[in-house]
Amino acid sequence: MINLKTHFPTPDGIVRAVDRIDLSIREKETFGLIGETGCGKTVLGLTIMRLLPPSAAVEGKIIYKGKNLLEVSEPEMRGVRGEEIAMILQNPTTSLNPVLRVGEQIAEAIRLHQGLNKRDAKEKAIEMLGSVRISSPSRRTSEYPHEFSGGMKQRVMIAMGLACDPSLIIADEPTKGLDVTIKAQIIELITKVTEEKAMLLITHDLGVAMELCDRIALMYAGELVEYATAREIFDDPLHPYTRGFLGSLPNRGLVPIHGMSPSLIDLPRGCRFHPRCKHATEACRRKHPDMVEVEAGHFVRCFDA
Ligand SMILES: Nc1ncnc2c1ncn2[C@@H]1O[C@H](COP(=O)(O)OP(=O)(O)OP(=O)(O)O)[C@@H](O)[C@H]1O
Ligand SMILES: [Mg+2]
Repeated sequence: MINLKTHFPTPDGIVRAVDRIDLSIREKETFGLIGETGCGKTVLGLTIMRLLPPSAAVEGKIIYKGKNLLEVSEPEMRGVRGEEIAMILQNPTTSLNPVLRVGEQIAEAIRLHQGLNKRDAKEKAIEMLGSVRISSPSRRTSEYPHEFSGGMKQRVMIAMGLACDPSLIIADEPTKGLDVTIKAQIIELITKVTEEKAMLLITHDLGVAMELCDRIALMYAGELVEYATAREIFDDPLHPYTRGFLGSLPNRGLVPIHGMSPSLIDLPRGCRFHPRCKHATEACRRKHPDMVEVEAGHFVRCFDA
């Protein structure tokens, strides 16, 4: 992604949901995107998939296998979705159609992208459910989403995402709302199925990101504020927001970051984090800091780093 912007014009002003994001995900890498609610994570994922409402104004470049996805035709983009890049959506309950049997939904996704006939697609759907370790998959395919538990729905979403063997998976909060045991199982599953794939993992959960990711980026109010290897983010966080986020983890004292993230319509001048930052100076109030590479591969947007 180069200088990627996604803005939504609304009657109250422009929502700057994604603002000048530069980021590259390497082959087979698991890249974590972390930030508080409303900072723009899902919008970034949907921008890559080109699944935004027409009102969205998107600028910049999304280069995938040498092509700018923002410039390819809609039919070509349909091919990219599913076959090349798949997104596991944030909310399995609303993403699954309640009146369609689970097997039909997976089979439909497969049929669309792989051109299989109905019977073969159904076979494949059963195979996919088995691969995400749902027991008695052939019986399960004829059930409806409400007959599935939260963890099982999440597995169905993962199965649908993987059905067409994409090389990049965008997983939006795949472990949200799951209890600890189920969460561990989903993490294990994701680790296994994405070994050979690149993944953009969107999550609130730094613990999950630490376990799964090679590199991690912290997003705040529409922009990235720090990124580095997961190890460095954990051992040597440089941005006050990253530090705050780590400090709010259970094993680090559960100290929340005080204050609230700003409205994306009315962003603070200077550094977007300054109203919540204990170390803010006059410069932070006045000038917007650039992303700086402070060590090889460790980028941070803070005058103090
Ligand atoms: N179609 C839209 N029109 C206007 N604003 C939108 C639209 N879609 C999203 N937004 C706004 O963009 C901002 C970012 O939303 P987004 O869903 O990406 O947050 P998020 O980081 O995924 O949060 P969460 O962690 O809660 O999932 C929010 O302020 C949201 O209200
Ligand atoms: Mg989201």
